[in-house]
Amino acid sequence: MINIRDATDADAEAMSEVVTASIRDLCSIDHGDDPRRIAQWNSNKTPAHFRRWLATPGMRLFLAERDGMPAGAGSLSLDDGVIQLAYVAPQHRSHGVTSALLAHMEAVLRQAGIDTARLISTETAHRFYVKAGWVADGPPVPRMDAYSHPMRKQLASGSA
Ligand SMILES: CC(C)(COP(=O)(O)OP(=O)(O)OC[C@H]1O[C@@H](n2cnc3c(N)ncnc32)[C@H](O)[C@@H]1OP(=O)(O)O)[C@@H](O)C(=O)NCCC(=O)NCCS
Repeated sequence: MINIRDATDADAEAMSEVVTASIRDLCSIDHGDDPRRIAQWNSNKTPAHFRRWLATPGMRLFLAERDGMPAGAGSLSLDDGVIQLAYVAPQHRSHGVTSALLAHMEAVLRQAGIDTARLISTETAHRFYVKAGWVADGPPVPRMDAYSHPMRKQLASGSA
């Protein structure tokens, strides 16, 4: 069973572990398994960074638990409607964790009155986001071995 909840300071280590392992083990298309690139990408994903983000006004952080275990981590900014992080731990991939996390974050943004959510996708996750209804929000940007994909999704139905 997957549960998404607000993260707390006590989750900082787990979130850091989930995100750094996800980047290291799942994002090979992006970093080409280059240890230097992996280290650089993960350099601002330490527990201290997560604690700082947890204390940042306008930022919301979420922990996904699968059968009670930390399985995914996400963050967003209510200031600009940007989803900043959406990562699944390697051992929990393909069990619906990122889908649940993404749906939860989209709902939080929608409830905050944000019409259009934005994110920058890895190459690894690009097709996943397309399947989830996200569309291009500008041309792909070269990054490391692949491209980053600016994307957006209309959250409001337009009935407002
Ligand atoms: C690709 C990824 C994001 C999918 O997350 P996940 O938790 O494994 O995916 P889910 O189990 O929620 O799968 C949801 C759906 O996406 C599909 N899917 C999973 N990985 C996919 C991929 N690489 N390409 C296309 N579709 C994919 C699944 O088939 C599933 O479809 P269904 O609901 O019709 O069965 C994840 O496996 C991954 O590699 N994450 C790496 C970290 C990352 O790049 N995060 C994004 C930062 S912007």
